[in-house]
This record gives sequence, C-alpha cells and structure tokens, in this order.
Amino acid sequence: MTGSLNPTALTRLLGSWNSGALPAYRELADVVRLLVMDGRIPLDVALPSERALAQTLGLSRTTVTAAYSTLREQGFLTAGQGSRGRTCIPHRSSPVTMPGLAAPEGLLDLAYASLPAAGEVVHRAFADALTELPALLPGFGYDAVGVPALRQAIADRYTAEGVPTTAQQILVTSGAQHALNIVLKTLAGKQDKVLVEHPSYPNALDAIRATGCRPLPVAMPAAGAAAGWDIDAMVAAMNQQRPAMAYLVPDFHNPTGRIMSDLQRRRLARAAALAGTVLVVDETLRGLNLDGVSAAPMASFSSTVVSIGSLSKSHWAGLRIGWIRAEQSVINRLVTTRTTMDLGGPIVEQLAAARLVGAYSEPMDARLAELRQNRSALMELLAEHLPEWEVERPRGGLTVWCRLPNPSSTALTVLAPDFGVRLAAGPRFGVGGAFEQYMRVPYTLPPASLEVAVRALRAAQDKIDASPQLRRSLKSGRPAAAAVA
Ligand SMILES: Cc1ncc(COP(=O)(O)O)c(C=O)c1O
Repeated sequence: MTGSLNPTALTRLLGSWNSGALPAYRELADVVRLLVMDGRIPLDVALPSERALAQTLGLSRTTVTAAYSTLREQGFLTAGQGSRGRTCIPHRSSPVTMPGLAAPEGLLDLAYASLPAAGEVVHRAFADALTELPALLPGFGYDAVGVPALRQAIADRYTAEGVPTTAQQILVTSGAQHALNIVLKTLAGKQDKVLVEHPSYPNALDAIRATGCRPLPVAMPAAGAAAGWDIDAMVAAMNQQRPAMAYLVPDFHNPTGRIMSDLQRRRLARAAALAGTVLVVDETLRGLNLDGVSAAPMASFSSTVVSIGSLSKSHWAGLRIGWIRAEQSVINRLVTTRTTMDLGGPIVEQLAAARLVGAYSEPMDARLAELRQNRSALMELLAEHLPEWEVERPRGGLTVWCRLPNPSSTALTVLAPDFGVRLAAGPRFGVGGAFEQYMRVPYTLPPASLEVAVRALRAAQDKIDASPQLRRSLKSGRPAAAAVA
C-alpha cells in the first residue's frame, strides 16, 4: 500500500481533460491511463471514490463509474474494495503476436530512460563500504553536506576535468532531482522565470512548476546538421525576460542526446552573468559520452555556474546519489535549504558512492559499448520499421528523439500498452502541450527487446494511420498537455 489520491490532486493532474470529442467517461479513462503509464500517478495508489471525484469534477457519478470500469477492464485499476480500486499496470494475458519474435511477457518500458545497475561493481562497492562502516558508527550519522570521502572524490573528478574544486564546494544529495529542488528553493523565488530548453527533462519541468516558478521555454532548433542550441534566442530571452535561473542539460541533453559546443557554453555563461541569471546545468548524463565528444564542463566557463550531477545513469539510480557543485558561499545557502527537507543521506550508500566515484571509469567501458550497440540497433530498427519517423542520432545519453509524421504522440502512448509497450508522450517534454508530434525512444533495452518494441510501435502506428478518427479523438495532446500545464 503506498497511499491514495484525493479528488483535488487528481483534478489538478487531469487539467483540462474534457474536449467533448469522445464520451466523457472514455476521455476520463484515457487521461488517467496516460497519467498512470507515464508515472505521474504512481502504482498501487487508491483513486478517489466515485462519488467524491464526480462531485469535484462536476460530473454524474455514472460517468466516473463507467471510466473506472473501463480502467479495470484495461487492467489499470484493481478491483479493490468498494469503489476504491488501486492503480496498476496490466499483465498481458493474451500477448500480441508478432511474427518471428517472442512476445513480451509484461510491458516493455520505453517510458523510463534508465539502466540496470553496473551490478558487480556496485555490489563490490557496497561490500567494501560495509567494512568502513564500523569506524563511523560511534558518530550521530547526521551529515547534511555529505560524507567527507565522497565530497572529496566528487571534487577530485571536477579538478581532473579542468575545474579546480574543493570538497567544500560539493553538497551530496539524494540524486539530481533532489539537487534541483534544493537549488530551485534556494535560488529562485515564486513567480520567477526559469529559462529551459524546449524540449526538456519532464521531472525538471515539474519541479520548476511545483516550486511556483514559471518555465520560460526556448526552442531547440530542429534536427539537422547544425542542430544544437539556439544561443542567440537564449541570450535574447535572458536579456529581455531576465529569468532568475536557467536550467539546462548541455551534456547529452534529455531527450535529444545533443552536446553543447565549448563556444556555445562560453557565450551562454557570459550572457547569463551579464543578465544576472543563475546558470544551473544538469550533468546527469555527462558520463554517457558514446561518441567520445570533448566538451569542457560548463563550470569551467564561469565560477558562478551551479552544476548538478548524479550516479543514476552511470552506475545505478537505486543508489540515489547526486550532488551540487557551486561556490562555497552558495553551498552554505543550499545546505540551509536542504535541512528543511531532510537531514542528510544514508551513510553506507555514500561510502559506496565514494568508491564508485573514485574509480568512475571502471564500469563505463562495458556500459558505453553496450549502449553503442543498443543505439545502433534502435536506429536501424526505426529506419526499417518506421521510415516515416525522422530520427535524430544522439551523440550520447540514453534516448532518441523522433519526429512523427503527424501529431499522434498521445494517441500512440494511449494505444501502446495494447501492443505491449509503455511510452512517455512527447508533450511530457514540453510546456503548454508542445511536442505532440514527437516521441522519445530510449535505447536502454537490449537489441532483441528493442526489436519487439519497435515492431509494436509500428503496429500501434498502423492502427492510428488506419483510423484518422481514432487519431483525431486521441491526438489533440489534451491529456499530456493538461498534465504539464
Ligand atoms: C537530465 C536528467 N536529470 C535528472 C535525472 C534524475 O536523476 P536522479 O535519478 O539522480 O534524480 C534524470 C533521469 O533521467 C535526467 O535525465
């Protein structure tokens, strides 16, 4: 049991869900299903009672009952006790047959872009950490800045990359998302503008909104030889709109996989300093450099840059280890905010992380080789099975950003589970419903699973192509747009 969702919280997530294009119960079920699939409604959560939700949404109880029944039939809601079913993901009892391929047992997850642990290396680091633990047991165990060995190991990595850094400039956090929340709460006020790339990382957009700040999206140029960042547009936005902060992912940007050139970094750092905008760079994917591209860390262009890092993509998200690098005076302010949220991270994880950061490259050769293989497989599969999708080749990171022939990202996401796949709709990566014509596809699964997944996407796309009415009824982007609004 992980909790329940009250009618007000669900109504907020639903946004303006009711377009009138379909019966209300169908639209309601579709949007809830989408929210469950892309993780905005967690699993094993009890939905509001039919009566309470009907009252809050101003609907008849019959409509909510019919929506819940649809979700139950589709396997997204347990039977539950009374009317309070709990969210779940369907286990496929009658797999879609795909000639020549084993059908997946459960849903293939293309919504998360994450890898399993670099198992042996992580396990060994924990075993070693346990041998160090007794020396720390006499202490209280509270450490709001992070254990010294880990802070030093992270600082040493920056120094080795050409950005001299002391341990006092590092704050250890429970992952990059935690780090961003601390930074937002400390350095941006409510209603402040936060410049973001458009598209951007969905959970960062959510964090920016949840802090009461307003995302200021600056479009990234369309894919092509010169694709990268529109620095002119970013500089203009900083000069004209004076955002308090810019949140950027210059190192293997999520979702496009692009890397920013040193020239662009220098221009951006200078413009941010002149406009009084705090430049916050998320380096979570920096280690996943598939093409061996060289780019200096953003912090080497300005001492005021705030850098966020994480072991989630290089080693394992289950570690929940991230960090912030900033000037020491800024770190002191961030620590004050952090202690309003939690009083420090778990010690054993940090001891293990210190070893992992100290020998950072140990699992990386194998990990990068595997990812290169997956990326090639996915690019070939997309070219073969979905030639009408325009696919941008990522230089690193974990995902391919695809332009669809028509605005059908939400429709595909809603239909995909019928074909054994879970997706995150394009509008999750944008502000105000943008990117209905885009889909992010991770290459975190092995080639055999990617083949099943891409064939499933082909089948879902065919179903949409064969029924313009289906696309119209599902296409408008309302469900995803609603939830990001
Ligand atoms: C750009 C970016 N930032 C942050 C995160 C979340 O990182 P963490 O697991 O360290 O919170 C992710 C995960 O996908 C990401 O892609």
